[in-house]
Amino acid sequence: MRLALKENDMRYVVCALAVSASLAGLGAAVAIAATPKENHAAYVRRDNAMKEIGRNFYVGIGWVTQGKLPFSQDTVTAAENTVRLIPGMVSLFPVGSDVPESHLKAGLTNDPEKVKDLVDKVQKSAATLVDDVKTGDKEKIAAIFKTVDDACQLCHNDYRKPYPPAK
Ligand code: HEC
Repeated sequence: MRLALKENDMRYVVCALAVSASLAGLGAAVAIAATPKENHAAYVRRDNAMKEIGRNFYVGIGWVTQGKLPFSQDTVTAAENTVRLIPGMVSLFPVGSDVPESHLKAGLTNDPEKVKDLVDKVQKSAATLVDDVKTGDKEKIAAIFKTVDDACQLCHNDYRKPYPPAK
């Protein structure tokens, strides 16, 4: 009985210590390291999100500019999807997500302002993407495709490690 009480008291003390420690370190708490599993999951989430954008942008629109796909309502949907997915890119670069298996170079995860700036540039570049694609005019689509792709490559050129050449 006595022992049980003592244990409870101890738990209370430990708890109170933990609260004050976390209050004292509130600023630092935000940057507390995620587990390796969480870091890997953040990388997978980024890789999947990028691939989803890529399917819409490079395939859905890019292939139309290359004549590999005919222009259709799907092209417009791909443009709408691309524009819808861009803002979410700001959340894809949490601290620790530059795991070795990722193609993200070091530096970006510690610089949320830089991420925001690069994503803003992509978003601005895509302001007329849907309207331009809707025209069905191949030259217009090719022009806006290049404008947006250039903005994507600003980040890729500086922060993405090269992939091995496709076999
Ligand atoms: C803020 C930086 C950033 C921006 C902006 C960005 N990407 Fe990426 N992208 C990356 C990184 C980093 C990777 C590598 C992912 C990894 O391995 O962690 C990547 C990977 C990819 C991939 C998968 C690999 C490949 O090349 O097949 C595609 C597709 C892709 N991005 C498409 C795009 C498109 C399309 C845009 C513009 C609409 C874009 N990205 C904008 C950083 C960015």
